[in-house]
Amino acid sequence: MEDHGFYINGGWTKASGRKRFETTNPATGEVLATFPAGTKEDVDAAVTAAATAFSKWRDTPAPKRGLIMLEAARIMRRRKEEIAAVVTKEMGKVIAEGRGDVQEGIDFLEFMAGEGRRLYGETTTSELPDKFCMTVRQPLGPVGLITPWNFPVAIPMWKSVAALLCGCTVVFKPATLTPLCGAKICEVYEEAGLPPGVFNMVTGFGGVVGDGIIEHPGIRGVSFTGGVETGREVYQKAARRLIKVGLELGGKNAVILMEDADLDLAMDGIVFGAFGTAGQRCTATSRLIVHKDIFEDVLGRITERAEALRLGNPIDPKTDVGPVASPDQEKKVIEYIGIGKKEGAKLLAGGEKLRGGAYDKGFFIKPTVFEAKRTHRIAMEEIFGPVLSVIKVNDFEDAIGVSNGVKYGLSSSIYTNDINRAFKAIQRIEAGITYVNAPTIGAEVHLPFGGVKDTGFTREAGSAAVDEFTYEKAVYIDYSGRLQRAQLDTEKLTK
Ligand code: UN1
Repeated sequence: MEDHGFYINGGWTKASGRKRFETTNPATGEVLATFPAGTKEDVDAAVTAAATAFSKWRDTPAPKRGLIMLEAARIMRRRKEEIAAVVTKEMGKVIAEGRGDVQEGIDFLEFMAGEGRRLYGETTTSELPDKFCMTVRQPLGPVGLITPWNFPVAIPMWKSVAALLCGCTVVFKPATLTPLCGAKICEVYEEAGLPPGVFNMVTGFGGVVGDGIIEHPGIRGVSFTGGVETGREVYQKAARRLIKVGLELGGKNAVILMEDADLDLAMDGIVFGAFGTAGQRCTATSRLIVHKDIFEDVLGRITERAEALRLGNPIDPKTDVGPVASPDQEKKVIEYIGIGKKEGAKLLAGGEKLRGGAYDKGFFIKPTVFEAKRTHRIAMEEIFGPVLSVIKVNDFEDAIGVSNGVKYGLSSSIYTNDINRAFKAIQRIEAGITYVNAPTIGAEVHLPFGGVKDTGFTREAGSAAVDEFTYEKAVYIDYSGRLQRAQLDTEKLTK
């Protein structure tokens, strides 16, 4: 077992003499490592390092920053298997998905490395002669990144790679459940040659470390992914400081399944979307909206498919679904299953913990399917677990209404072979992402990722990622050699 320190100013702080917390394997209960619980003073040390490193990093040519990202991609690829195993052990997703989590980091490093040779501004005309106008992108400064446990490598990479490439320095707080994945990211950046102080990590609890980061006067922007209520608090705290905020919050993503769809194709997708990562993706398929003509057929098929999934230790490649990530998650999911039963939803599959032998040490919940009404809480609220609500609708219009009838708007999907319906769905579903003939998960890193409504408003990944960590500066260069007055002299010229 490893005892870690913080990663500040290019080195690991001493682990001793601090209040510590453990990170454990949710499948086995094994303690994997301990980390220090950061204080406001620790945050201050990290922000000071980031602030000191900022000017040199900002002045490093962006293509050179890009080359460091490319080097980090190579290192991550070399260490993929090892880091994927850490993801699986610490967070509980099956090993194939652990690899996917790391791969998403590699993909984004490679994509952003090229952005180092773009970071486009624009040039435009001037209303005055002999005057040149353009915009350039400037980094915000030191930024705070507060990330969740469900993609413990990919999401910190989305945020940090974009921030670093743009010339920001970083104070990173990994989720309390997944600091070991955070430590692996620090190691990769260090080996890739990031200068000391450019990337710093402080572990600990949101109320102290997270708030400490947002409230620190040296921090110029914060990017947060997590639950809606915490997101609201982050936004309010950042508002007091008038700093830029990125928010990526919950989802209640629906697949719409029309009567003309290829049902075999749809079933594969829905099972992957609903029960992949044990339903713990912001993008997870947690609602299945089905046309009435195929409803009974679909209920039978999906129940059968959910029951056939192999629940077990996620490190075993034969396992389909791993545990949920923590006792808190388990409690929340079990509570929602209880709520579903109480409000009269019909339980078709799962609905309980898997018990006995080795399972008792982990947080295993059977893939669960409910036949639910559109107004049931289980069909409206984010559960973040392996629970799917299947809802009957009358027609396409009704389906769109149900899809939009929740407070979130992250991902969405429609299965249909009718091209007109597909395009109408793209136009009318209120969500940041719409899939056609694919489930709600599986976003690629070179497209923007984010939502609307209570999901937040930020776009991460893709080229849009640079907007989060830069501001545009307007630059005017007057080469006329005389005072030219915008608005005033323009008028004279037009006479
Ligand atoms: C998340 O759950 O917050 O689209 C991120 C997907 C993944 C990312 C999910 N590529 O499912």
